[in-house]
Amino acid sequence: MKTVRDIETLRGMTQGWRQDGESIALVPTMGSLHPGHLSLVRLAHEYAERVIVSVFVNPTQFGPQEDYKNYPRSLDNDRRRLSRADVDLLFAPGIEEIYPFGEDAMTRVSVPDLSTMLCGDSRPGHFDGVTSVVSRLFNIIQPDVAVFGQKDYQQLVIIRRMVADLHLPIKILAGQTQRQSDGLALSSRNRYLSEAERTIAPQLHGALRNCRDQIMSGNRDFAALEAEARAQLEASGFEVDYFAVRKAGDLSSPDADSRHLVVLAAARLGQSRLIDNILLEAQAQMRITGT
Ligand code: PAJ
Repeated sequence: MKTVRDIETLRGMTQGWRQDGESIALVPTMGSLHPGHLSLVRLAHEYAERVIVSVFVNPTQFGPQEDYKNYPRSLDNDRRRLSRADVDLLFAPGIEEIYPFGEDAMTRVSVPDLSTMLCGDSRPGHFDGVTSVVSRLFNIIQPDVAVFGQKDYQQLVIIRRMVADLHLPIKILAGQTQRQSDGLALSSRNRYLSEAERTIAPQLHGALRNCRDQIMSGNRDFAALEAEARAQLEASGFEVDYFAVRKAGDLSSPDADSRHLVVLAAARLGQSRLIDNILLEAQAQMRITGT
């Protein structure tokens, strides 16, 4: 596996592959890789001959009070893992390569509405940073396929919208959320949990499952279900940003007869902000993974 830091070298390699008729998949990450990321790499291999993983801790998606400086970085470890996962190329650019005119003067790509609800409400500007960097990665690499985790469901919906609205010829695939055996979704930020918080953390997934089960058994009083889950999580020590039942396609509020639903939650536990979600129907699951 080659590690490439500049766009020119990267383009030399991708052009060669394309001339040989090989398709290219991109898995964008911020590094500090765990088995969740590697499951996206496996999915990428199913859809393309060549797999590129980008590792770039993107400053423009962190708020001023957030953990950009302390975000875990472990490029040597990441390189070893990716090499064992048969990745063809690791793209690890510096900030100037991605934002040649500086972060303040950068051209922004923004998906309104979808970016200001849910996580966007408590992290203003976050998703503009995500779409601004992912659109650049798409332009630099021009992949046929790009793979994202369902774990960051709102991010996935926003990327799909951006790709549709900008007419980008890229197929977006979603990989299922990888979890610990107690249900906690894998995340680079789980390391911030204390031992006591770690035992409480799986309750977030528990609350999502419980809500899903109640909806599937016919309870359509979404507001009451949301309030009940919120109260339970707060009683366990979570500070809940949101717990919301939404339409899976566009994250708008559901009607009583909406079919494809997703339940999403974000909650703080000590220093950590945990997010998770659960899709409601087998059909919705199939739509989202493209299977
Ligand atoms: P990062 O948090 O590193 O995540 C990279 C990809 O891994 C995302 O698509 C995310 O949804 C997926 N992922 C994270 N945890 C997962 C899990 N437990 N199971 C399956 N997939 C998981 O998301 C970002 O980086 C950035 O916002 C990025 C898209 C790279 C733009 O900077």
